[in-house]
Amino acid sequence: MSTVMDFTKQLNDFSTTFEQLAKVYDHSVQHSEQMENAINSYSHWITDKHHESFWADKELERSTDFEQLVLNLRQQSSLCVAIMEKYRAMKLQQGEVEIADYFKNIEECIEKEFGSFHVTSDSKVLLIGSGAFPMTPLLIARRTGAQVVGIDIDDEAIGLGQAVVETLGAGLRIHLQKALVQELAYTKEATHIIFSSTVAMKYDILDQLYSLTNEHVIVAMRYGNGLKSLFNYPQQATDHQKWRLVDNILRPDDVFDIALYQKASHAG
Ligand SMILES: C[S@@+](CC[C@H](N)C(=O)[O-])C[C@H]1O[C@@H](n2cnc3c(N)ncnc32)[C@H](O)[C@@H]1O
Repeated sequence: MSTVMDFTKQLNDFSTTFEQLAKVYDHSVQHSEQMENAINSYSHWITDKHHESFWADKELERSTDFEQLVLNLRQQSSLCVAIMEKYRAMKLQQGEVEIADYFKNIEECIEKEFGSFHVTSDSKVLLIGSGAFPMTPLLIARRTGAQVVGIDIDDEAIGLGQAVVETLGAGLRIHLQKALVQELAYTKEATHIIFSSTVAMKYDILDQLYSLTNEHVIVAMRYGNGLKSLFNYPQQATDHQKWRLVDNILRPDDVFDIALYQKASHAG
């Protein structure tokens, strides 16, 4: 790529591709390969350092058209990642297991998710936005023996997710449920809470969690700023009386980063 115009054109092309792929989703695996290719190319594109100077130029320009394109891409790519998880879950049921680059990326990240705030077998983990292919619950429960509850607002994602857990996580302490944080007694018991990066309302939910959680809880907020905000909802300021940033795990080669929060009274 040589000019900022090429940069914008490529983003417009991704936007068209994602819009079309989301539209043709028909609850079968028909278009799964195109989706996987599109998400993989986008993941590589987002983490390509050559694109950073073009991003900086566009940010300085502050054009409303470009801002709108960024918002659209974030929304469309989030929807497409959720659909891609559904494809992966359906393919697992049909006996096919493929791990696309995007998923490898997430798996590698899980080791570092809570920095020095380790998950142990006594921990109670809550994942907000567990998706149709709940890798985070599977990996945490398998590696640590912790109890994991995953919630999602999408019925189809919960149903497919439960089938994946039955297949890959038999015997693990994982429970998936369509619920909101305020409806779960478990929210108060949770020792560790993880937000999926593509949950649009994640900072509103974090604010709400202040009164719903115990004093010691640690929250891992997956996010993406700058170029990565094309694929993730970005970091936001929190009410300092409530949540304090205690660590920021930057992962230059991966699609999202992780901000860790604790209640202000515990953050030292
Ligand atoms: C890409 S998926 C899950 C990510 C991946 N499985 C992981 O382990 O990180 C994101 C999910 O968040 C869900 N979601 C979006 N907004 C939500 C909200 N407000 N509460 C709960 N889930 C939400 C979507 O329905 C989608 O299934």
